[in-house]
Amino acid sequence: MLRFEYPKNVQQFDMVGLPDMKHYIDCSVEEMLGIQKVANEIQENAEVLLVIGVGGSFLGARAVIDALTPYFRTISGVEVIYAGNNMSGAYLRQLLTYLDGKSVYVNVISKSGSTMEPALAFRVVKQYMENRYGTEAFERILVTTDPEKGILKNIANESGYRQFVIPTDVGGRYSVFTAAGLLPIAVAGIDIDAFLQGARQAEVDTSNENIGQNAAYQYAFARFELYSQGYSLELLASFEPRLKKLHEWWKQLFGESEGKEQKGLYPSTVTFSTDLHAIGQFIQDGSRILFETLLHFDEIEEDIEVPSSFDDLDGLNYLSGRSMNEINATSKDGVVLAHEEGGVPVMKICVPKLDAYHVGYLMFFFMKACVISASLLEVNPFDQPGVEAYKQKMLELLKEDVVKIHE
Ligand code: PA5
Repeated sequence: MLRFEYPKNVQQFDMVGLPDMKHYIDCSVEEMLGIQKVANEIQENAEVLLVIGVGGSFLGARAVIDALTPYFRTISGVEVIYAGNNMSGAYLRQLLTYLDGKSVYVNVISKSGSTMEPALAFRVVKQYMENRYGTEAFERILVTTDPEKGILKNIANESGYRQFVIPTDVGGRYSVFTAAGLLPIAVAGIDIDAFLQGARQAEVDTSNENIGQNAAYQYAFARFELYSQGYSLELLASFEPRLKKLHEWWKQLFGESEGKEQKGLYPSTVTFSTDLHAIGQFIQDGSRILFETLLHFDEIEEDIEVPSSFDDLDGLNYLSGRSMNEINATSKDGVVLAHEEGGVPVMKICVPKLDAYHVGYLMFFFMKACVISASLLEVNPFDQPGVEAYKQKMLELLKEDVVKIHE
């Protein structure tokens, strides 16, 4: 279980209904074993897994992989890299050059099957794979999509690609516990069983109707309460750089679920201590519109001790023998004191350990809190009409361009 601490100016919690979200973690043992089997095959045969997807169709996997694999090497021997999350020609060109000479598998993930960024990237990569692997390319391309419909589903059927499913009732940003997240995570060598178990425990804990013991409910209510007091920006902050993509996932989850009908908190993220030297001034002293949610892991494997120095030229001998993680934790306490003094309400989410079980727990916790938050705001957490508007405009412009070219 994680611990949640909220600021003093949030006094009381009123009950609203708790959503039932069991189906978001409804991966059967059979499905999990099927995913693991293909992951093992990729580990045996590939040096690189290219994940093609955008938004919820890649951020969850990337968040978990970055959080749970070492900074400078892989666990499984397979490097997981990403495409289809931008429209940069330079990125795709350089990606293909990077793939040359390496053994490659591709996992293209799109629930709708028609999102422009992954669809375009897949068109390029599919051709690359066919040129490289000929008739065997289809064995190295795995599709994760809707179980019944969509362009990608049709392409997979036509080409004989192996398929994995994002259930119809699970939207992209809530899909990390489906094959969309689990396959790349398993390929990276992370224990998907432990990851799912953490999520299942979170489901039980966050369904507790005793809201004094329901951290997801308290978090949702506290942020709503602060929003009602005029704090319109939530800053998620951590002290471990490998959590940056987890931040991105959180930002998308809350941003796309809540920001509608001219309502919602603006979700932003910082990694300390790096960002204390970038945005720290604003947090301490700028417009008083933000509150901070500190994400803290009590136990992080691997640490290093500050050595003592004979001449102490840098004057740091007073820290000799202390560990970097310990100093990092102390800097966190200093940040809390300073920011609270500067008028920034600070909440804390404390997770016992940075491992697969607890990351699964945390992500489900956030998903649940997000749906509760949206219901407090009276908005639908599962649609994204604003994103559709941009897609429509882009399509209109692209089609206009085509007409001009042919004139
Ligand atoms: O959360 C969402 O629904 C979105 O962010 C989608 O995941 C994103 O737009 C990609 O959609 P799709 O998986 O249909 O390509």
